[in-house]
Amino acid sequence: MDYSYFNQPTKGQSILASILIPVNKVLSALNSNVKLVPQGINGDEMITIEQRINLYHLLNGVLINNVEGDVVELGCHVGNSAMQIQSIIEVANSFKKFHVYDRFNLIDNPYADIRQKFIANFEKENLKVPQIHEGMFSDTIPGQLPEKIAFAHIDAGHGAPIDEYRDVMLFLLDSIYSRMTPNSVCLLMDYHDHSRTKGGTDSNPGVKAACDIFFDRKPEKVHVLYGNRYSHGYFRKK
Ligand SMILES: C[S@@+](CC[C@H](N)C(=O)[O-])C[C@H]1O[C@@H](n2cnc3c(N)ncnc32)[C@H](O)[C@@H]1O
Repeated sequence: MDYSYFNQPTKGQSILASILIPVNKVLSALNSNVKLVPQGINGDEMITIEQRINLYHLLNGVLINNVEGDVVELGCHVGNSAMQIQSIIEVANSFKKFHVYDRFNLIDNPYADIRQKFIANFEKENLKVPQIHEGMFSDTIPGQLPEKIAFAHIDAGHGAPIDEYRDVMLFLLDSIYSRMTPNSVCLLMDYHDHSRTKGGTDSNPGVKAACDIFFDRKPEKVHVLYGNRYSHGYFRKK
């Protein structure tokens, strides 16, 4: 098994570290309590290290076990998690296609063109740019989904009211479920179960609200994962 993605920082992280480490040494020599902390290559990391570890193991397991189908991410923004997904696919020498879906118009973001920033991030890391499906989910899904899905990452939270996001999640779950092949995995960003999640915040209660409804009469169950300050869950298709 190749764990190199986690052992090696990305190019952006290396550059950041080469600046932060000497600055922190000087601050420490001056007996300063101030320390500079990296926030991710774009300074807007929407995924914790623990969630990256979850993502790595779940996707890598799907690839190693040759689960049939392609890889999709519903909600990619500038590509923080999508770059890791593509990297895992490339390190595994997998031929799976990777599709991302986003309207690329998140408000309150620092980029003039989010789609362009997404592509630039991939190019900076020498990663193949996935197949981009730009538009509202209601316009691109299910029509532009691959016929068979081996791995799905749903990360579409954007501060919508609980009922609104629950309905988006129900639509997304319903759209991918019938295309998911046996043993395929769906990773759920922000899945927070008050009785089982340790530590994380319940930033998108609509995720669990949708899962409670969707899985009520399904053979699969949602498993809780540790995500540090965020929350995480997944299910494996029977
Ligand atoms: C939390 S961000 C994704 C973060 C990304 N996975 C990362 O790691 O950087 C959620 C994304 O979902 C997208 N999104 C939310 N609702 C959507 C909808 N109805 N149609 C299309 N995109 C949507 C937003 O545009 C936003 O980019």
